[in-house]
Amino acid sequence: MIPASVIEDLKFRNSIEDVISSYVTLQRSGANLKGLCPFHSEKSPSFTVYTGDGHYYCFGCGAGGDVITFVMRMENLDYRASLDFLAQRCGVTLPDEDKQEKGGVSRTRVLEMNKTAARFFHKMLYTDEGSPGREYFMKRRLSGSTVKHFGLGYAPNSYDSLKRYLTDKGFTEEEMVAGYLCQRSRKNEKHIYDCFRNRVMFPIIDVAGNVVAFGGRVLDDSQPKYLNSADTPAFKKSRNLFALNYAKNSSEGSLILCEGYMDVIALHAAGFTNAVATLGTAITAEQARIMKKYTDKVVICYDSDEAGQKAADKAMRLLSEVDIAVRVLRIPGAKDPDEYIKNFGALQFREVLDNSKTPFDYKIFQVKSKYDMNDAEQKVRGAKELCRSIANIPSRVERDIYIKKVADALELSLESVKGEVASTLRRKNNERKKDERAELLRNTARLGDRVDPDFAKEKRSGSLEGAVLGMMLYRPEFIKLEREKDLLSPDCFYSELNRRLYVKMCEMQESGGFEFGLLAESFKIEEIGAFEAMIKKRRELSNNSEAAFLETVAELKREAERIKGRAEGEDLSDLIARRRLEKKDQ
Ligand code: UTP
Ligand code: MN
Repeated sequence: MIPASVIEDLKFRNSIEDVISSYVTLQRSGANLKGLCPFHSEKSPSFTVYTGDGHYYCFGCGAGGDVITFVMRMENLDYRASLDFLAQRCGVTLPDEDKQEKGGVSRTRVLEMNKTAARFFHKMLYTDEGSPGREYFMKRRLSGSTVKHFGLGYAPNSYDSLKRYLTDKGFTEEEMVAGYLCQRSRKNEKHIYDCFRNRVMFPIIDVAGNVVAFGGRVLDDSQPKYLNSADTPAFKKSRNLFALNYAKNSSEGSLILCEGYMDVIALHAAGFTNAVATLGTAITAEQARIMKKYTDKVVICYDSDEAGQKAADKAMRLLSEVDIAVRVLRIPGAKDPDEYIKNFGALQFREVLDNSKTPFDYKIFQVKSKYDMNDAEQKVRGAKELCRSIANIPSRVERDIYIKKVADALELSLESVKGEVASTLRRKNNERKKDERAELLRNTARLGDRVDPDFAKEKRSGSLEGAVLGMMLYRPEFIKLEREKDLLSPDCFYSELNRRLYVKMCEMQESGGFEFGLLAESFKIEEIGAFEAMIKKRRELSNNSEAAFLETVAELKREAERIKGRAEGEDLSDLIARRRLEKKDQ
């Protein structure tokens, strides 16, 4: 176990404000900071950071905790890995703890293994066994230097070439499985085999230059076309972008967002070194924020099919939300940028790029090609669709500009477009309010039940337990006080979750002192959120004095006695009922 003092130091060096603001845009609100919650989707900020004591809590979804739990959630890491993450972030080394023994595989090991595997795949291309891969890249017209630049490779058509290679290099089977390079056979648990076989390999490299994952493409038309690493200790799909390691150094001042690995590679080869792609998923809010770190302008360059266009809508929304100026490109006469460049060349592509549209102009263009503007009914539908989009724009000035645009483009009067937007806005507002209320109710109800099912059974005890524990968490000196005076015992807590928290607090108090950051080692992330909700309640109330604490403790003890008495009473009446039945039977 990492001692409390080390955790304290780690939290001191990684201020919660600093860490969270690299993911969330925070605004000051009184003594605290507020922003849009990164853990659920919302329009008005209910995510609060309490800089004073280093906690955060979301009123919308109930996520909460300290900087450690934040990193666990955000980076999808376990307790120990998130400590390593924070340690690395501030440049300290944590006391060593043999992770092998604990059955965990560290990020460092996975990264080392990935680098070794990437070399293996790449070297393969220059062997006899690798000729299918070589031929494939030639067929796709990739030059030798492009293949080298991206470190592309080939995974041979064999069940264990990589496994044998990695074993030679000192990696364990456990590491290979954790890093998603091998998987266990379903028939024989002891057997593991290579995940990627007979595929051309695209290493995914993060901005620090680590090989974090792989994408592997089949050589023919079989399915699945691409196989991608699952999330591993070293990788989270939703937080990485293909080729961002190169694109971030490009001098273009913007990024081009594509759908596919092959598009990105073709663009880079043609001199557009600012192209990136998501990794087999639609763009996420996290990826949008990452892009914002490197640029204020993104050109979306998705496939021209319907799926691509749908995906473009989502990308426009997410990128605009982080204040990136978005342009959308429509590729004329080709299915994707890769094909376009092959057919028409780089110069021509530059021209298309320069003619990319703003999201709204793009929308008008879409509507005009989807509906027949000579047919009155279709024109009305198109106009309504555009008015709905306008109603989504928060700025009034912007709305006015677009109202005029739509009126011009569809040859309608300004008044009628204005009227339609106004009524859509009213309807939307009403619906949104209703939805948000319902959502909030659902979330809080669901969360509470799942995390602490005992609460609903004994509500009065539950509130008292929450109050006592909340005060102890909020003012840890009460933990010391409680221990010194030996006020409570585990059986004062009806809820199993609360009991575990109480026991843990006592343990900590006896060995090195209480530290909130240590809780994440023994509790689930949702449970930590529930604890944070207890603190939040105390924060809102002014009465957290010692007298109030002692009084609540006394009340909780009385309540515990009452529940115990009633339970015994129930036992008795059960007994009587059974006797009666027995008598009847006789
Ligand atoms: P595409 O089918 O457009 O692939 O999917 P592509 O990169 O253009 O490849 P080529 O040109 O057909 O060889 C776009 C992206 O979606 C993900 C991959 O990241 C791919 O680059 N994808 C696609 C998958 O993850 N799995 C699949 O089965 C298909
Ligand atoms: Mn393609």
